[in-house]
Amino acid sequence: MIFAANLKCNHTRASFKIYAEILNKTMGAKCDDIIVFPPSVAFLENENNFIQGAQNFYPCVNGAFTGELGKEHLDEFGIKCVLIGHSERRALGDEEFIKAKFDFAKEHGYKIVFCIGENLDTKNSGKTLEFLKKQLEIIDLNYEKLIIAYEPIYSIGTGVSAQSTDIAKVLEFLASLTKVPLLYGGSVNENNIKEILSVNHCGGVLIGSAALKVENFIKLIKG
Ligand code: G3P
Repeated sequence: MIFAANLKCNHTRASFKIYAEILNKTMGAKCDDIIVFPPSVAFLENENNFIQGAQNFYPCVNGAFTGELGKEHLDEFGIKCVLIGHSERRALGDEEFIKAKFDFAKEHGYKIVFCIGENLDTKNSGKTLEFLKKQLEIIDLNYEKLIIAYEPIYSIGTGVSAQSTDIAKVLEFLASLTKVPLLYGGSVNENNIKEILSVNHCGGVLIGSAALKVENFIKLIKG
């Protein structure tokens, strides 16, 4: 199972250092199934027992892109994993830009956690699967370092995850399109993680709020 934590705009470099120290110590040895996405200013240079990923990047090595983060900056911290398509970022860019990021990350061999998810209107109109299929049309579903995270927008940050029957329908559909690992994200917490992980085809979780405290994240990992 893959356990990924998206810390979003939380934690400073100092606090993430402590977070990483505790996580490293608890895990004891390297584990490729635990991924943490800290804010970019909190990236750590030291070796970790988990994968450190970037919440965002610009599809360039470097250049005249004010305020952006290129490959060169990720390289400096040994970062080989990126998050693409999170709904909180989709709101700021178009599909073409997301595709450019995917293509760049694939070209440079990054592990990619690619987020998809519908809003409540789409869900209520019964168009979830159609919508998700469209979101996936721009990427290579056979890329060997791809992980897909299904994050229904209506559940993110609410404390209430999607119904496991709805998650099951979506993961079944995604599994018919690709063989890559499938994660669920959207208010995963200690009350629902067991049920979510038991859904057929669920290969792990992408956790936001419930992973902000490292002790909580560890509890969720340990089950
Ligand atoms: O990427 C993780 C995320 O969007 C879910 O956030 O706070 O609902 O667990 P949260």
